[in-house]
Amino acid sequence: MSEPTHPEGTPSRGAAPSSAGGFSSGDGLTFEQAWQAAGTVPGWLTEAQARVLWHETRRAGRRAHVVEIGSHRGRSTVVIASALTQGHLTAIDAFVAGERYGGPATRAVLEDNLVQAGVRDRVEIIADRSGHVRRRWGEAIDLLWVDGKHDYWTCSDDLRWATFLPSGGRVLVHDAFSSLGVTLALLVHVLPSSQLRYLGRTGSLAVLEVGTPTRQDRARFARQLPWWVRNVGIKVLLRLRLRGLARRFGHTDRCDPY
Ligand SMILES: C[S@@+](CC[C@H](N)C(=O)[O-])C[C@H]1O[C@@H](n2cnc3c(N)ncnc32)[C@H](O)[C@@H]1O
Repeated sequence: MSEPTHPEGTPSRGAAPSSAGGFSSGDGLTFEQAWQAAGTVPGWLTEAQARVLWHETRRAGRRAHVVEIGSHRGRSTVVIASALTQGHLTAIDAFVAGERYGGPATRAVLEDNLVQAGVRDRVEIIADRSGHVRRRWGEAIDLLWVDGKHDYWTCSDDLRWATFLPSGGRVLVHDAFSSLGVTLALLVHVLPSSQLRYLGRTGSLAVLEVGTPTRQDRARFARQLPWWVRNVGIKVLLRLRLRGLARRFGHTDRCDPY
């Protein structure tokens, strides 16, 4: 399984912040203020998805311990850390070498972005593969954000972090319905699961909850599969440079659907 390719290999960049320099995020920081900083960090999280991530972090509680798998330059990291006030975030990234993710040098960019956003003090960065970290992990967590390697095996392994969540704790998964590996992992480990329920999605960001799924939860999940097939088809068309055909399926931009 390959990782989903992102728009021309270039992550999107949001509007520049209206004020120069960084700002600190206190209790009163709104999502819009958080997005002023996060939106300038190149990444693939859309504003609507960032809003979900921000609200889910707030829902997890002010003292929440959040685990992020896949930080890259910190777009999602800034969103989560901005929503935390007395809690903290463990940001795990293997800083994979190569053109797409930039390798170990990306760690310095991430740190700089966290400093600029005024949230460096609440983020612990672990530069390692998520599977290695999980095998030596022993703490309870309050929210899990999965946006690491998108192949079936790694994503399946990353979903095992849910065992550290309490009942009612949430797992957010990016590229849930736009990547072969991630969707297969969800099909195998969430659809038949008796411990994780599918709540819904914003674009390809899926929200899961630790709890016993109902038949309706499973049916809701199954209803997303035609959308997933459509997205995989759109990605194939974009690779073949058949943008006109992709437009016929309602996909108007040059980026992958995510
Ligand atoms: C899609 S990017 C994350 C994007 C980020 N969440 C954002 O909002 O910009 C995926 C990241 O996962 C990292 N990664 C790949 N394999 C990993 C693994 N096994 N464990 C932890 N991180 C991994 C890559 O280095 C890359 O930075």
